[in-house]
Amino acid sequence: MAEVVEIFEVGPRDGLQNEKAHIPTEAKIALIDCLSRAGFRRIEVASFVSPRWVPQMADSGQVLAGIRRAPGVSYAALTPNMTGLERAIAAQADEIAVFGSASEGFSKANINATIDESLERFRPVTEAAREVGLPVRGYISCVTDCPYDGSVAPEAVARVAGALDAMGCYEISLGDTIGQGTPGRVAAMLDAVLEAVPAERLAGHFHDTAGRALGNIEAALDKGLRVFDAAVGGLGGCPFAPGAAGNVATEAVARRLAELGLETGLDMAVIAEAAEMARALRAG
Ligand code: HMG
Ligand code: MG
Repeated sequence: MAEVVEIFEVGPRDGLQNEKAHIPTEAKIALIDCLSRAGFRRIEVASFVSPRWVPQMADSGQVLAGIRRAPGVSYAALTPNMTGLERAIAAQADEIAVFGSASEGFSKANINATIDESLERFRPVTEAAREVGLPVRGYISCVTDCPYDGSVAPEAVARVAGALDAMGCYEISLGDTIGQGTPGRVAAMLDAVLEAVPAERLAGHFHDTAGRALGNIEAALDKGLRVFDAAVGGLGGCPFAPGAAGNVATEAVARRLAELGLETGLDMAVIAEAAEMARALRAG
C-alpha cells in the first residue's frame, strides 16, 4: 500500500481572507460543503480575528453555523487571542489554531505583538482550549523569509516551534508566507526545527509566489513531514505580507504526491469541482 500524506485544506480561510471584494456567506458555505465531499480530514474554514483587520472573515460564525458537517472532518478556525477562542467555542469549531511568526517584523504587522508577547498571549488560549478538549494547532509564519526583516534564521523558527510544542499544540505548521524559500533553505530550517519537534508533529505550509512550493514540499518530505497545507485553486495570500501569492494549489500538490507514489485519499473530481468554484469566487 502506498504511504499516506495528508493535505490540510486551508482555502476557505487562507485563500478567501485575502480577497478584497466581499464574498457572500452562502458562497463560502457552498465551497466548504463541496470540499467536505473530497476526503479531507481537516478543513480550515474560519478565522476569529478582529473584523477590522480582516473584514472578509467577519462572518466566520455564520459560516460554521451554515455548513453541512461531514462525519470525520474537523472544521478548524484561527484564534489569535481569548476573544477569538470564545467566538470559536460559541461557533463549535472542532479545532483551533494560534498563529505566530519567526520574525519580529511580520509578528508586529500581522498580530500587533512581538514574538514573545504573542507567545504569552497564546498561553491562556491553549490552556483554556485544553480545558474544553479543543485541539490546538500552531502556525509559524516567515520560516525562511520575512517581507519586513529579510531572511530568517532557522534557530528563530526552532525557538518558536519549541515554545508552541511546549504549550501543547498537537501540530505545528511551518509557513513560507511569501513563498521565497528554496528547497535547500527549507531543508536547513527543518534541520533546526527537528531538534525541537519531531516530524510527526510538523506540517509544511508553502505559498507559491516564486513557483517553488512543490520543490519545497519535496524537501520537507525528505525530512519526514507528512502533512501539507494547501488551498484549492491556489486561492489566497496574506493581507499583511505584501506580495504573498496564494497557497500552493491543493490539486497540484495531490498530483505531485501521486507522481511520487504517495496516497492522499482525495477524490480528484470533487477537488476539480471545488477549484472551479474557487476560481469563480475570485473572479467575483
Ligand atoms: P489589536 O488591535 O492589538 O487588539 O489587534 P486589541 O486586543 O487591542 O483589540 C482591538 C479591537 O479588536 C477591539 O475592538 C477588540 O474587541 C477587537 P474595539 O474595542 O476597538 O472595537 N478584537 C476582536 N474582535 C473579534 N475577534 C477577535 C478580536 N480580538 C480583538 N479575536 C489582533 C490584535 C490579534 C486582534 C489583530 O492584530 C488581528 O486580528 N490580527 C489578525 C491578522 C490576521 O488574521 N492575519 C491573517 C491570518 S495569519 C496568516 O495568514 C498566516 C498563515 O496562513 C501562515 C503563513 O502563511 O505564514 C497562518
Ligand atoms: Mg498562509
